[in-house]
Amino acid sequence: AADISSLYKEAGIFTYDPGFMSTASCNSAITYIDGEQGILRYRGYPIEQLATKASFLEVAYLLLYGELPKEPELDDFEGVITRHTMLNENLKDFFQGFHHDAHPMAILVGVVGSLSAFYHDSLSVHDERHREISAHRLIAKVPTIAAAAYKHSIGEPIMYPRNDLRYCANFLRMMFATPCDDYEPELIAEKALNLLFILHADHEQNASTSTVRLAGSSGANPFACVAAGIASLWGPAHGGANEAVLDMLLEIGDVKEVRRFMEKAKDKDDPFRLMGFGHRVYKNYDPRAKIIREVCHQVLEEVADVNNPLFELAMELEEIALNDDYFVERKLYPNVDFYSGIIYRALGIPRNMFTVMFAVARTVGWVSHWMEMMSDPGNRIGRPRQIYCGPDQRDYLPISQR
Ligand code: ACO
Repeated sequence: AADISSLYKEAGIFTYDPGFMSTASCNSAITYIDGEQGILRYRGYPIEQLATKASFLEVAYLLLYGELPKEPELDDFEGVITRHTMLNENLKDFFQGFHHDAHPMAILVGVVGSLSAFYHDSLSVHDERHREISAHRLIAKVPTIAAAAYKHSIGEPIMYPRNDLRYCANFLRMMFATPCDDYEPELIAEKALNLLFILHADHEQNASTSTVRLAGSSGANPFACVAAGIASLWGPAHGGANEAVLDMLLEIGDVKEVRRFMEKAKDKDDPFRLMGFGHRVYKNYDPRAKIIREVCHQVLEEVADVNNPLFELAMELEEIALNDDYFVERKLYPNVDFYSGIIYRALGIPRNMFTVMFAVARTVGWVSHWMEMMSDPGNRIGRPRQIYCGPDQRDYLPISQR
């Protein structure tokens, strides 16, 4: 790739590829996707195996360090992440500054970015050990901030982490416990969250990860880079889709309405799109959606919500779309976000927290990519070119002559 780019440079040629449809921006050994076959692997391990057998922190270790941890390594890693879950007390004041109905993603962008003011050693990005500590801090503190953003939005006091709990159980407790009522998460909730977090942990050079890499390529503070990633994730074409799917299902409202909305989705004059359908890379069933669909059944059964009308609606919509020429020709299949919102909802997680949940899990991917990039001696600042299409040279006229 290096040779091709220098050849292009010498010849004064560069490629025009809006949306980066066919441009690789880096080498990476973290995640492998085959979009035609519907294959996803983290560090070589099939997502289906990790999702059913591993814990989220085990997967986090794998993404960060390249190998599955041995028992003492995992114990150490869990201990380190646990030690970093607390926030500086002064950070609590930041939450108070947000309006009570601020979207939790807005709070997350702001507060994670503000961590850069607490950990601002500018030399740290050039030191491997410092980079590792930043990565640990982010994995540990983002859930605490995410849960605090939710507590702020409902006017309840922020709950401190409880470090004797596992990662997902601790997060659920920070969301749902109050100083008056402690909360023990049910095992099914913890298991479902563990699985959703694993499925969302990384997905190679998606918009938010590329944003983190681009921001980081200038040597910027990692907390600020991850805040940039969170901002990119928020959009409905990316991580915001899980919230948009639920909005869409509620808007459709009834199985009888599905066909009408399908026609809207196909109409090019109508901005309506089938949210949770389609993917830039997968031209086959998203393997994560396959796993989530299965788990959705189990979770709804366990929380005695088997006849959940939204799930029925989603399955009907999928059935019709998979047999519709428009969707078949364009290879549009359900993506990871199509069913995740239904599970979150069954677990009692409010809609405006869905994308925040995604951000908590994806933090692991972001920091893994940032670490990989920063330790690459060939790393250089990301700087795309453009095709200039503005006016030719013209002369400045004094304002009275324009
Ligand atoms: N509903 C209806 N039509 C669609 C949809 C959809 N969800 N997705 C794509 N199409 C159509 C497009 O209109 C286009 O049709 P055309 O060729 O007749 O013009 C064709 O399929 C190709 O779509 P593009 O928008 O060119 O595909 P792109 O790769 O740029 O976009 C994206 C991918 C953003 C995911 C898109 O499919 C979409 O908007 N989906 C809905 C939002 C969503 O679910 N996002 C989550 C993605 S997964 C994630 O980020 C975790």
